[in-house]
Amino acid sequence: MIIAVINQKGGVGKTTTTLNLGAALAREGQRVLLADLDLQRDLTAYEAAFEESGKHPDIRFASTNAQALPALLDEASDNYALLDCPPGLGDEVVAALRVADVALVPVAAEFPAVRGLARVLDLVAALRRCDNRELRLHLLVTMLDGRSPHGQTVLETLRELPSQIARCHVYETVVGRSLLFARAAAEEQSIFDFAPSSSGAAAYRDVARELLALAAPQHEAKAEVSARADTAKKTKTAGGSTP
Ligand SMILES: Nc1ncnc2c1ncn2[C@@H]1O[C@H](COP(=O)(O)OP(=O)(O)OP(=O)(O)O)[C@@H](O)[C@H]1O
Ligand SMILES: [Mg+2]
Repeated sequence: MIIAVINQKGGVGKTTTTLNLGAALAREGQRVLLADLDLQRDLTAYEAAFEESGKHPDIRFASTNAQALPALLDEASDNYALLDCPPGLGDEVVAALRVADVALVPVAAEFPAVRGLARVLDLVAALRRCDNRELRLHLLVTMLDGRSPHGQTVLETLRELPSQIARCHVYETVVGRSLLFARAAAEEQSIFDFAPSSSGAAAYRDVARELLALAAPQHEAKAEVSARADTAKKTKTAGGSTP
């Protein structure tokens, strides 16, 4: 399954979600490709520390761009590919949405974030019309501050969307605001390695489980990212035991 992590707005938790959801999926037994489409290379910054730790045999990193992405995915045999996109809705985002099964949009629980969402939804709708009819839309609330009145309003606004938009899922799990994410990032660690018993770790574990439950039926038909590459070897494994 290919998941494009997108939002027009910067600093909403795209890279944090890519990294920690990827780590959570690996903890659930999945092989994960983390692909960095952002020239800031914030995701790639974790690569050396992850490899040196020896704790993440099921996670691999790739730095790529819009042109190189299709070839990277054709060669991939991971269960999940997470594509960390730059802010904005430029070439990298369009390239990611063209090949993705899911557009995953982290939405920071603040008012401007919800306002900016309309353009993201328009782009997803346009891609569905032209290029990728099956593209699903997943929305994940991040940086929720339980004390802020805005947070609840954002949640309520988002939870109305699935009744208005086809193939749209709003995660039951929300990711709260926590300084531990920035501290984990400074140490180039996932939240699971940095603060395993934190509420942030529990949140990304639950997001991964929700995603796996949603993905289960379709995995029978398309077991791996590589199912997109039409080779005899991959045809053999597609009906196998991969969940
Ligand atoms: N749930 C959270 N609570 C508090 N801080 C968070 C949370 N998630 C991420 N952060 C922090 O917010 C900042 C922005 O997060 P991140 O880099 O993931 O956003 P982004 O959307 O990828 O940004 P950009 O658009 O620049 O690529 C980082 O310092 C990160 O550690
Ligand atoms: Mg980022």
